[in-house]
Amino acid sequence: MGVPTIEDQFILKTKVYFNRDSLKFLKQVKGSRAFIVSDSIMESLGYLQQVVDYLHDAGISSHIFTGVRPDPDVSLIADGLKLYRESGADVLVAIGGGSAIDSAKGILYFAWQFAAVEGAEINKPLFIAIPSTSGTGSEVTDFSVITSNGEKIVVIDEFIAPDIAILDSTCIQHVPQHVVADTGIDVLVHAIEAYVSTKATHFSDALAEKAIKLIFENLETLYKDPKNDFARDCVLNASCLAGMAFTNTGLGINHSLAHAFGGTFHISHGRSNALLLNQVMEYNADLNGPLGEYAASRYAKLAVILQLPARTKREGAVNFMQAIKRLKKSLGIEDKIRYLGIDQTEFANALEHLAETALLDRCTPTNPRQPAKEDLKVIFEKCY
Ligand SMILES: NC(=O)c1ccc[n+]([C@@H]2O[C@H](COP(=O)([O-])OP(=O)(O)OC[C@H]3O[C@@H](n4cnc5c(N)ncnc54)[C@H](O)[C@@H]3O)[C@@H](O)[C@H]2O)c1
Ligand SMILES: [Zn+2]
Repeated sequence: MGVPTIEDQFILKTKVYFNRDSLKFLKQVKGSRAFIVSDSIMESLGYLQQVVDYLHDAGISSHIFTGVRPDPDVSLIADGLKLYRESGADVLVAIGGGSAIDSAKGILYFAWQFAAVEGAEINKPLFIAIPSTSGTGSEVTDFSVITSNGEKIVVIDEFIAPDIAILDSTCIQHVPQHVVADTGIDVLVHAIEAYVSTKATHFSDALAEKAIKLIFENLETLYKDPKNDFARDCVLNASCLAGMAFTNTGLGINHSLAHAFGGTFHISHGRSNALLLNQVMEYNADLNGPLGEYAASRYAKLAVILQLPARTKREGAVNFMQAIKRLKKSLGIEDKIRYLGIDQTEFANALEHLAETALLDRCTPTNPRQPAKEDLKVIFEKCY
């Protein structure tokens, strides 16, 4: 924790409703017209209709945009923006994974930007986010990740943080097993990066520690037994807690590298993060260097929380990293990038650009150890 500054603060703008069935909160929303951002899977699973019906009970009519695709790009945002502006909505609802919630945030962000350019007043809608993965934590963050020309751009602005998050774990009961694994590891990376961030505080630490504990205690169970309601509740809550932490602390180079790698090779966000995690932690902890790094002691603290042996900083950090490796293996996650079938020459040719992009990513400045481009290339090479 650094020297206090005038900027030291902890912000939590979003009101959170949780529990199975909390989707019914929509019956109490105040407004007249809703614009709903979602995808065809949420439509076919019937969740979208449920949202429309509950809003109807609240006297709110719905305009629906189901054009969301994974890793939303600017053209998708432009399509949604046009319909959103035409709808005149006073309520904006996103139901889906991080891609749907980030799309709604992108639409909101550009609606605001356009209004500013036109000198028009923006009537900010009530923004409700309902995650269907566990997850990105996007329901409580001021982050949105949008792909432009094949590259993932991180937009960070308080304006796009949802007003209300609804954590109803019945909405995540049909998530495919590999998505449970990927999104669950994404939660873990959010919490770990928040914990070692240069902007970590006691407030973010408390949230990150709880999220990490919930993931270690429940993610493997949920992966192996998708009908386990308790494990599903716990992982969904962990996702939100980790989001609350990192929207305050920022993230780190795990995300910077994952944005560059996932955007280039079309690998899901969570899997990209998972493949990079251990090498990033080794770099941050500098275990083969002077072992003086702040991150090593933070990882060791997490080992203590998980009741792993941690008589020394090295022992704790190593045991925490080993526990992560075991967890990833239990979730069927590959050990190396090459096992995804990515060609070695293609990967080597992309390295320079991947490292350059990651260095400039908005998640890099809060990493506990400031990397040079060469460091990022070495991490990528070790992960291959
Ligand atoms: N804004 C943030 O704070 C933040 C944080 C992390 C990641 N992200 C971004 O979020 C995106 C990834 O989001 P994600 O990991 O949630 O995946 P996703 O939203 O892309 O969904 C992954 C797949 O799962 C399907 N799916 C989602 N919910 C389902 C359900 N309940 N049942 C069945 N299928 C379901 C989707 O249709 C999709 O095919 C990336 O673009 C990433 O960069 C944003
Ligand atoms: Zn993430």
